Amino acid sequence: MTSALQGKTVLITGASAGIGRATAMTLAQHGAHIIALGRREDALKKLQEALPSGAVRILVGDLNDDAYLKQVEALASEVDIFVNNAGVLRYAPLLDLSAQDCEWMFQTNVLASLKVTQILGRAMVARKAGHMVFMTSIAAREVYRLASVYCATKHALSALARSFRLELQGFGIKVTEVAPGMVDTEIRAGSDHPDVLAAVATRKFKALTAQEVADAVAYAVLANPNCCPDLIELRPQGSA
Ligand SMILES: NC(=O)c1ccc[n+]([C@@H]2O[C@H](COP(=O)([O-])OP(=O)(O)OC[C@H]3O[C@@H](n4cnc5c(N)ncnc54)[C@H](OP(=O)(O)O)[C@@H]3O)[C@@H](O)[C@H]2O)c1
Repeated sequence: MTSALQGKTVLITGASAGIGRATAMTLAQHGAHIIALGRREDALKKLQEALPSGAVRILVGDLNDDAYLKQVEALASEVDIFVNNAGVLRYAPLLDLSAQDCEWMFQTNVLASLKVTQILGRAMVARKAGHMVFMTSIAAREVYRLASVYCATKHALSALARSFRLELQGFGIKVTEVAPGMVDTEIRAGSDHPDVLAAVATRKFKALTAQEVADAVAYAVLANPNCCPDLIELRPQGSA
């Protein structure tokens, strides 16, 4: 354990799995106190058990539920660093994607992300300090076959990240966008369209690990006070 983040509180959405969980583990190892959010209580409890007692508090709920966002708001004044990470994905050909899946992705990846960032942003402005890390994607700048609506949500989230930076930098708040390419997590588990499965089977590179992305988040939040890592893009070698 190092103590570079000793005394800092980090709130992470989507900390029950994948990139968010790896980020929670990594920042806790740097001494941060973690507030871990997600819908799966059992997974959040396992994260708590994997770290020293008192290192992690959990707050279980759905980011699309306004009553849950009120609970987040009650903690907001404690938060030094906010990792806006929760997200969902369904790959399918554009003409086969259901309206329900489109709404689900925009609701979670854009609208819920915006609402929770506004809540944390207001508290950071009041304290005139803070750091927000947005988990966007390479899909925030490029578009891929079979990933249309997911790419659109990540383009929108990136626009919001850049807008928050412009409006909040004057209050001493940093905004970093971490934009990974393909990462080996559960996020694609629900994408079972035959075209998607065929595309995955012919992939010629190895996906990034969640730990590699967590290390990029740690780099950003450990940067010197006057250094603002605005955008960190990371891709699997050979995937450009
Ligand atoms: N994997 C990739 O290839 C990749 C690449 C670039 C960017 N990203 C981005 O990285 C972020 C994390 O993805 P991941 O790959 O780590 O996926 P993951 O393993 O599926 O984790 C997603 C997390 O989001 C949470 N979540 C989803 N919907 C939620 C909701 N309505 N309310 C609260 N929490 C919710 C999940 O928690 P619960 O299920 O417990 O609620 C889970 O902890 C996402 O924003 C994703 O778009 C991923």
